[in-house]
Amino acid sequence: MRILSGVQSSGQLHLGNYYGALRQFLQLQQEGEALYFIANLHSLTTVRDAALGRQLTRETAAAFIALGLDPAKAVLFRQSDIPEVLELYWILGTVVPISNLERATSFKDKVARGVSADFGLFAYPVLMAADIFLYGADVVPVGRDQIQHVEFARDWATKFNLTYVQGYDAADPLGAAGHPPGILKPPEARVHQSTAVLPGIDGQKMSKSYSNTVDLFGPDKEIQKRIMSIKTDSTPVEAPKPVDNVLYHLLKVMTPPAEFEEIDRSWRAGGKGYGDYKKMLLDQFHATFDLARARRDELLRDPGELERVLKDGARRAREMAGPIISAVRRGVGLG
Ligand code: TRP
Repeated sequence: MRILSGVQSSGQLHLGNYYGALRQFLQLQQEGEALYFIANLHSLTTVRDAALGRQLTRETAAAFIALGLDPAKAVLFRQSDIPEVLELYWILGTVVPISNLERATSFKDKVARGVSADFGLFAYPVLMAADIFLYGADVVPVGRDQIQHVEFARDWATKFNLTYVQGYDAADPLGAAGHPPGILKPPEARVHQSTAVLPGIDGQKMSKSYSNTVDLFGPDKEIQKRIMSIKTDSTPVEAPKPVDNVLYHLLKVMTPPAEFEEIDRSWRAGGKGYGDYKKMLLDQFHATFDLARARRDELLRDPGELERVLKDGARRAREMAGPIISAVRRGVGLG
């Protein structure tokens, strides 16, 4: 089984990125041949500063490793190091219905939030599908907001194969039942049940664009400030607390289940104040991420080594891409 996913390097990683997506990528690396990349081509749709883009790419790669990606096992690379993806993106674009892209919720959301509606942003799902096909991915772990994109990729693989592979049967995409196999493999989105859409400190979905994040690698002071300013209500210390509450939700996601039982009990019984629970959350944050935080700093102090890891990943990814891009070129009459 080949597993592939990407993360944009468009900002600082936060708890929402970790519990919404990254954590399950890391778990999955044990289950098959995993490829993870820093989607720095996609980031160009929002990051318009070269030095910042370069730095965020490096930081995201370091974060991946620090959080547990094993570059000896999983392939970690920079999207832009494999130029074939842009060739596939163009070829694929020639069979993608504009009406699909117009329906894309992430496009509509981003434009509504003030990202400029450029062609690159509009075509974003086509590049994402090219990422998926180029390495023959079977399974694509994603956060909930990306499911629609993976479903588009499935549709476009089918359309491409029906267009270019004579006798292709969409019900037998790999040719197991005797039909000719497709050139592009329809992927399957994987959203782990524990994958949470995390609330931010103000109660809306945690998102960089709402400035309500707790960053995984931010300065200690800032982490503390953010956690201490989580929105709560005026329930008195001795009273039972409502479970429909951001702080409760974050504690539940971040605390190991055995420890959470005790928190849950006192929460429902009363006797502790929100300040006490914020302190617990802060402690839990450090217990969970301090090792990774230190490891990331260390990795960033040695850019040469990080570069070596990314180059090695790119070499391995490119080897996997080679036969697929050749088949695409032949299939459409370019090679
Ligand atoms: N769009 C994804 C995100 O913002 C990142 C991404 C780019 C990706 N290409 C991909 C994810 C291919 C999975 C597969 O989170």
